Amino acid sequence: MKKLLIFSFLAAFTFACSQSDGEKSTSEPTAEVKKVDGEKIYKTYCVTCHGLYGDMGASGAFNLQTSALAVEERINVITNGRNAMTPFKDLLSADKIKAVAEYTMTLKK
Ligand code: HEC
Repeated sequence: MKKLLIFSFLAAFTFACSQSDGEKSTSEPTAEVKKVDGEKIYKTYCVTCHGLYGDMGASGAFNLQTSALAVEERINVITNGRNAMTPFKDLLSADKIKAVAEYTMTLKK
């Protein structure tokens, strides 16, 4: 009888654990997708000049780790370009430009 009690306790415990795991995986993806978006765009369009960590500086690209620009100003540079940086308004939608600008903020040291 004691064994059965322990068993049912364990079963209830594992069930409770798997329950909360299930909850986690349903609530996480949405937040992740949003985060991945800007990062994905960055890795597709920006690493060639700025590098994976923003500090490569190819073609005179500014170091994004030390850039003091606010998000709005970054959106402007990305949209319209500046000197050697090409404009992205024909390549990316406003939403994507905003997402990638926000991602560059995370490269800051
Ligand atoms: C062709 C190379 C090239 C590519 C590709 C490129 N950049 Fe740039 N980026 C530059 C250069 C060069 C500058 C400096 C412009 C200047 O001299 O005024 C710059 C400047 C910037 C700045 C301004 C930094 C500051 O502090 O003034 C931001 C923000 C930026 N880039 C973000 C991006 C993002 C995001 C992408 C991808 C969507 C991207 N860049 C793609 C070359 C590039």
